[in-house]
Amino acid sequence: MSETSAVELDGLLKDIQSLESLTADWNEQQRNTLQALKQAHDDLNKEAFTRLVRALKTEPAALAILKEAVADEVIYAVLRHHGIVKATLHERVEDALETVRPSLESHGGNVELVEIMPPETVVIRLLGACDGCPASALTLSEGVEKAIKEHCPEITTIKKAKGGVTAAPVDGVKINFVSPFARGEDAGWVFVCKLDTIPEGNIKVATVSNNEVLLSRFDNKVTCYQNACAHMGMPMDMGDVSNGILVCPHHGFEYSLQTGECLSAPEVQLHTHAVRVIDDQVEVKLS
Ligand code: FES
Repeated sequence: MSETSAVELDGLLKDIQSLESLTADWNEQQRNTLQALKQAHDDLNKEAFTRLVRALKTEPAALAILKEAVADEVIYAVLRHHGIVKATLHERVEDALETVRPSLESHGGNVELVEIMPPETVVIRLLGACDGCPASALTLSEGVEKAIKEHCPEITTIKKAKGGVTAAPVDGVKINFVSPFARGEDAGWVFVCKLDTIPEGNIKVATVSNNEVLLSRFDNKVTCYQNACAHMGMPMDMGDVSNGILVCPHHGFEYSLQTGECLSAPEVQLHTHAVRVIDDQVEVKLS
């Protein structure tokens, strides 16, 4: 938008705001009358814009110009207001992320949209406490992915970008142990073992409700993954561990035991289960 039209637009918006502020003290009947008048104007404008757009769509050259015009933020905003153009994919993804933000923020985390790769892929980044959290895979699949797919059915692949900004943990919340999307805060937790029986930086195999899982500990943080390689689903408990990295004994895929991230193929990740530690008791909730 040119500088002159930006100033003009600013002036128009200020006019609307100051006129609206004049009505603040009006009684209910006056405000209802004003509302009805605004609605009537809106309906008339919507009908006119609808007819205009319909007419332009019949002519390919005009349609191309219309598409260009809709890229103008003011034209887009007015046509969106009247429901004549649909929300962009970008807006729908942002709307989806907005629905999960309160849960993430309550655990000291957040999420941001990094990139949309049409037609079916969205890249997001987990931020704050969510980044590097052992339960981040659960947060991604149960929270973020679900929300995006609900708002944008055309999106089938959600990728996680690396490298968020790690925020300070929220006081009193064991953010390293429980994903905000671990279903049902207190149901389904199964005692697995005592904290000190899990070797520091190494793995311990355990069975939880017929599922073989791998537990790992870094200081007092515990992670839990399905004992199944993301490559071909083979068990990995016989793999070598060094510097917090587990190497699958079958074809050598490497995984960070702190995050479940696959270092050999960044687009895949170990299946993560939620873990919480109460005193020295380690409990797992299968996801
Ligand atoms: S099954 Fe693990 S690398 Fe192939």
